[in-house]
Amino acid sequence: HPTADDIQALIDAETHREGPLLPILHAIQAAYDHVPEEALPLIASSLNLTTAEVHGVMSFYHDFRKAPAGRHVLRICRAEACQSMGANALSQAVLDQLGLDWGGTTPDGRVTVEPVYCLGLCACAPAAMINGRLIGRADAARLSTELEGVA
Ligand code: FES
Repeated sequence: HPTADDIQALIDAETHREGPLLPILHAIQAAYDHVPEEALPLIASSLNLTTAEVHGVMSFYHDFRKAPAGRHVLRICRAEACQSMGANALSQAVLDQLGLDWGGTTPDGRVTVEPVYCLGLCACAPAAMINGRLIGRADAARLSTELEGVA
């Protein structure tokens, strides 16, 4: 588990930057695969912000996790082009199948499902990504087969 000193060292390495908050959050997530709750007050006091402000920025950008991800990460695009091609129903079907909410991880630690806002694959909407691999014209059956394939 990351110690406060480890986290503080990552913060201190970025505070010289202009607009250090995002680089700090990225550095912490790169180190721990998530931004631990205990990092927020450390970041806040280093940058003269409130913990709520740090939390607000963290939730605004969907890149940051509050908990480590499972072994496989499925991202489903929720931006406009994909929504118009049924991404909402697709997401709901996949989340229901796995018994998860957005950002959740299956109890066996196998799969995390996260939203993403445009994968640049709008022409093949709805789009998804499994462990960084793009999948166009996604449907629930295909995603479930793909997930079995990597598991
Ligand atoms: Fe989904 Fe662009 S809107 S890939």
